[in-house]
Amino acid sequence: MSTVHAFDPFAPDSSEHTGGAVDGRSLVQGDYGFAVLDFELATAVLRDNRFINAALTLMEQFGITEGPVHDFRSKSVIMAEGKRHIRLRTPLARFMGPTTVEDIRAVLRGILDDIDPGRGASGPVDLNAAIAQKIPARIYCHLAGAPAEDAPLVARLSAGTLALLQRDPRLTDSILASYDELFTYLRALIARKREIGLGDDMLSFLIRQEDEGKLDSEELLSEATAMLEASSVNTAHQTGLVVWTLLRERDTWKRLRSDPSLIPAAVVEACRLYPRPGIVSKIASADIELADTVIPAGSDVHVAVWSANRDPERFENPDDFDLDRRRNQPLTFSTGLHGCLGQSLAKVEMEEVVRFLLDRYPEATVVDEGTDIGHGGGRWLVGSLAVELGPSVSKDIS
Ligand code: HEM
Repeated sequence: MSTVHAFDPFAPDSSEHTGGAVDGRSLVQGDYGFAVLDFELATAVLRDNRFINAALTLMEQFGITEGPVHDFRSKSVIMAEGKRHIRLRTPLARFMGPTTVEDIRAVLRGILDDIDPGRGASGPVDLNAAIAQKIPARIYCHLAGAPAEDAPLVARLSAGTLALLQRDPRLTDSILASYDELFTYLRALIARKREIGLGDDMLSFLIRQEDEGKLDSEELLSEATAMLEASSVNTAHQTGLVVWTLLRERDTWKRLRSDPSLIPAAVVEACRLYPRPGIVSKIASADIELADTVIPAGSDVHVAVWSANRDPERFENPDDFDLDRRRNQPLTFSTGLHGCLGQSLAKVEMEEVVRFLLDRYPEATVVDEGTDIGHGGGRWLVGSLAVELGPSVSKDIS
């Protein structure tokens, strides 16, 4: 067996290992199952549909083995494979294409102007609370055609349901309660939309799919649920991580100010260095040979994205922030047929937050005291992000 047993990609000190293979091993094994550490093998696993999403198994490990939450997960787009996955995913992916996403830029600019965190502020502002936590839920509401006032509820439900990924069985009751509340919320929203008439939003699009017989009513709820739970919490943390990274890269910050067309590349590079979903977990659906090792069917296979994204074999000087990196395609949003369906939207959200800060608060700097950002269980987490905004400038750089 060509694996080493000592390395644990979930351990708090694991990120002391820069990235890539450990002692020449791309695949390691421990109490957690198997873990993939380098970019090439990570990409291969994420693109191999014999490795299925671990979310259902995770629920079962929490004791959620039946009932509506288990049913939702087993039927959701992330567990679907083959033709059914294509049927559930393709129309939604088309809806989430460039037209929808680019239209959202204008909406984002309006929301950022509206919540301007510097207005009336004296002293450092927590940009995590003031921007990062607010934007994704507001955008979900816009996307789904829900009232903007629902945003705090959406943010809470996304965090409450995806708490599953914390792998803490003490959270089982609160996760179940969050799903219960989420289903009730979406059922009421769907019913209200049918009553007042459909629009051009995502939920109306899904309702039409049901009316046309392309989805059944459970699938409609399941698609809407998958989009809600995935929409907010990851984007909120990743936005905080991107802003934290770019504000500390002062030379980059100055370059972005003089050339905003570099903002998308800067967002991708920050996502490479600090990926919120640092580990994407899969289950082997059959015995699978990987790096000269047979992975038995049913095994947990954790793709350590944080390690693959800093693999020195793939990324030169992997710990450096490099705005000019070529072929910069980190695995932060995964890859393959199940790669993140909302990644274009999430990137636009982060780009517009960065653009807003460059435009309005070009002198903004991170204040270490009051900033709480760390690495836990393989994931990057943002508790708070204290920023001295500096003078407000009204010049529009776009
Ligand atoms: C920065 C924010 C985000 C990050 C880092 C992220 C990351 C991910 C990752 C790692 C996966 C798992 C892929 C796999 O199993 O291989 C995923 C799946 C998914 N994401 Fe995202 N995501 C983000 C934002 C969003 C947003 C805003 C939405 C929707 C509005 C979304 C919708 C989805 C959906 C529906 C899936 C399941 C796709 C499938 O299984 O076919 N995500 N995302």
